[in-house]
Amino acid sequence: RKSVIRITTGSQALDELLGGGIETSAITEAFGEFRSGKTQLAHTLCVSTQLPANMRGGNGKVAYIDTEGTFRPDRIIPIAERFGMDPAAVLDNIVYARAYTYEHQYNLLLGLAAKMSREQFRLLIVDSVIALFRVDFTGRGELAERQQKLAQMLSRLTKIAEEFNVAVYMTNQVIADPGGGVFISDPKKSARGHVLAHAATIRLMFRKGKGEQRVCKVFDAPNLPEAEAISFYLNFSITPRGIAD
Ligand code: GTP
Ligand code: MG
Repeated sequence: RKSVIRITTGSQALDELLGGGIETSAITEAFGEFRSGKTQLAHTLCVSTQLPANMRGGNGKVAYIDTEGTFRPDRIIPIAERFGMDPAAVLDNIVYARAYTYEHQYNLLLGLAAKMSREQFRLLIVDSVIALFRVDFTGRGELAERQQKLAQMLSRLTKIAEEFNVAVYMTNQVIADPGGGVFISDPKKSARGHVLAHAATIRLMFRKGKGEQRVCKVFDAPNLPEAEAISFYLNFSITPRGIAD
């Protein structure tokens, strides 16, 4: 792998858990129930990726594929201010695209790869990676085709990560265990998760805590302790400045 860069998440505790932040040349999957903070972390990473290396950034641009229409450019402004960056310049360096079908999502990746060969990108967000596959392949008979297309998409993401030394951050909404608000104990066993689980270098499981507190557990990290948990805050209450301790 090319010299890996670690990009800060905005939370020191989360960074420490990840060995410094989210890695380039790798795929990080954030999975968890609705409102657990997957998209909020994406917003914070949009900014922190652009920080210089001495501020634990990636000194590069950001590509954002949004399948759910939940990117909020106005959320970027206070996060940029928190890190002492010019919000307009930060927004300019986010290449945003809304995807409406899984084919559209795949084609956007091809276009972005061409862009990445010309300019320095350090982050590719796909929020959510699987939502359109759930919509576009509904019938039972289509399951095999869906898995095949999903595998194709994931291998393209791996290629982009490695070829351009980019961090891929993809999200995946999974339903919390109805018995008590905890997650499926072994995410590898969740039926629809397995193709994704193989592609991701590292998997972050998010769940809700009290108020804006969120808990994160790490899975599959090659050099990190298995399933260690930490908490962080979405940080909306005082100033809406993104993920923090
Ligand atoms: P899904 O995409 O539904 O699976 O959820 P998610 O994991 O992406 O959650 P997300 O990061 O969107 O939301 C985390 C929390 O932030 C939720 O409780 C939201 O209500 C909250 N939130 C999002 N935007 C704002 C905002 O502008 N202000 C405040 N106060 N809270 C917000
Ligand atoms: Mg979301």
